Amino acid sequence: MKQGKGSPPRVYIETFGCQMNDYDSARMLRLLAADGYEAAAQPNEADVIIINTCSVRDKAEQKALSRIGRLKKLRKHNPDLKYVLAGCLAQRRGRALLHQMPYLHLVLGTAAVDRLQQHLQALDRGTRTIVDIEMEDEGAGVCRDFGDIVPGKGSPVAAFTTVMKGCDNYCAYCIVPYVRGHERSRAPAEILREVGLLVANGVREITLLGQNVNSYGQTLEPPLDFTELLQRVHEIDGLRRIRFTTSHPKDLSDRLIAAFAELPKLAGHIHLPVQSGSNRVLARMGRGYTIEQYLQQVQQLRQTRPEIAITSDILVGFPGESDEDFQQTLDLIESVRYSNTFSFRYSVRPGTMAAGFDDDVPEKEKINRLMILQERQRDITFELHRALIGRTVDVLVEREQTDADKPRWSGKSGCYREVHFAGDGIHIGDVVTVKVVEAFASSLRGTATG
Ligand code: 5AD
Ligand code: SF4
Repeated sequence: MKQGKGSPPRVYIETFGCQMNDYDSARMLRLLAADGYEAAAQPNEADVIIINTCSVRDKAEQKALSRIGRLKKLRKHNPDLKYVLAGCLAQRRGRALLHQMPYLHLVLGTAAVDRLQQHLQALDRGTRTIVDIEMEDEGAGVCRDFGDIVPGKGSPVAAFTTVMKGCDNYCAYCIVPYVRGHERSRAPAEILREVGLLVANGVREITLLGQNVNSYGQTLEPPLDFTELLQRVHEIDGLRRIRFTTSHPKDLSDRLIAAFAELPKLAGHIHLPVQSGSNRVLARMGRGYTIEQYLQQVQQLRQTRPEIAITSDILVGFPGESDEDFQQTLDLIESVRYSNTFSFRYSVRPGTMAAGFDDDVPEKEKINRLMILQERQRDITFELHRALIGRTVDVLVEREQTDADKPRWSGKSGCYREVHFAGDGIHIGDVVTVKVVEAFASSLRGTATG
């Protein structure tokens, strides 16, 4: 623990990017709490500021850099203030960041989270700067023991548990394998222990997290299929709902699809990123499936769980994407009718395979394609929401509303929609049946029926 001050030191963390980063940030808070730190609500109240960064697109990197740039003036009021840049950008740029931002004290890579306390102690003892971007020993394809548990952020009743780290797919556009390392799975006993502890602390919904959870367990000794892991997690008493993300279509097995019929706690939602509706583009991306195979999986999922909600990631303006290719993506969202899509303009990532391709779709055209896609998706989402009026959804109660004009309770449905609803005798953490009475573009309203 930091010495020499009357009150405990305080840490402020801001997180950019994906759920993996949310998980790492929650873990950093937890580790520092064990060292006597308290969480600061505002950066100007902190002794340590951590910016946990994302590198998936250039824009995400720029956002984090400009944020830390704006925070640097706080040094004037607190000369002891320490700046930590963590996460994927830290991993990607390492020491070079110190030249750009000489006021940084610590550059903490993605595999160095557990060394945060030790580095802060060294800084307290007078070390000026530290760069730690050492990767885990990935040889065995097994995660190091995580040690303690980390609650997910945001909700007291819904949490994440990491089941695997890294990725071996090397999709042509993607920086993740370079900044998160090779794929390695976490031992099932450790995952079950963490979920068990979370449930004992009131968590009712768990999301199993990994870059490609469908290939979980192949490197474990003995190997364990992801569906088997789900079955074991399913047995935990008190756990009401299980989600997992992210799935890769090339590794989505029949067995996992069948689990949607066999495991009632499995939420009726799957995030199955397609990236493009064109086979030509998919091949250039190195995704390992065709649209025909993808549509076959969608059909099989819907046969198994008719009400399943499917969401996706879509990338527009990948090198060589023609008008015709883009039209095929539009046709795809029309035929799948995703409950939602997260769509992005292609952004060149240094060191990836696609960085060697000609980034030939003009920026204006990327913006235009993204707008067309997002507009159409908004309509589809709204149409699907309206189709739910009069029907029921299962909702995990996560929050009580403070605004008197709104229904009292809020939470997420199994199909991953935000639901606000009225009802009596309800408690946070309950899973209730809600009849939908009104639909909005990004939420539903209803009344609890049981
Ligand atoms: N440019 C734009 N979007 C990207 N994604 C990954 N890499 C890039 C990139 N270079 C998107 C993909 C992925 C999501 C997490 O981010 O759609 O599924
Ligand atoms: Fe990136 Fe592809 Fe791995 Fe997903 S599967 S993290 S898109 S390389």
